[in-house]
Amino acid sequence: MDALLEAALAARKHAHAPFSGFQVGAALEDDSGRIHTGCNVENATYGLTICAERVAVFKAISEGARKFRRVAVAADTGALTPPCGACRQILWEFCGDIEVLLVNLEGRSESLRLKDLFRGHSMLRSLVSLLLLAVAAWAEPADWIWSARYVSPWTPGGG
Ligand code: THU
Repeated sequence: MDALLEAALAARKHAHAPFSGFQVGAALEDDSGRIHTGCNVENATYGLTICAERVAVFKAISEGARKFRRVAVAADTGALTPPCGACRQILWEFCGDIEVLLVNLEGRSESLRLKDLFRGHSMLRSLVSLLLLAVAAWAEPADWIWSARYVSPWTPGGG
């Protein structure tokens, strides 16, 4: 198995996840080939929890690494676990469009680009959605716009 996947699986064993019970490991390869690992570290104040990917990035940055080749994420799920939104943002800023490897405990893995995880979101779509909402508000002020039955253009599977 790829050493980066093995490193992410090994890092997962250090996860501190007493609240969710969901353990995640990450491994980030820098341009010198060095591997920086991370695991999720939870806190009773859940917002202070930090994901495995961000631990790996911040550890790497704090050790002077600045350019990265690949990142691997390991979790115990059938459908492989991709980085969350906050981690995607951090990864994008520090690593750009790097290769993202996902792996589970059976050793099943998949490779994608970070950019693929941002697909479906674009400035144009956001602007069109805002325009539609403005037209809707102008055409019929208040009630149905705020009703639960209204599916906004940016609801997944919606408009
Ligand atoms: N988690 C990660 O560490 N990385 C991911 O990509 C998904 C989520 C952690 C955060 C939290 O400790 C637990 O998994 C449940 O969300």
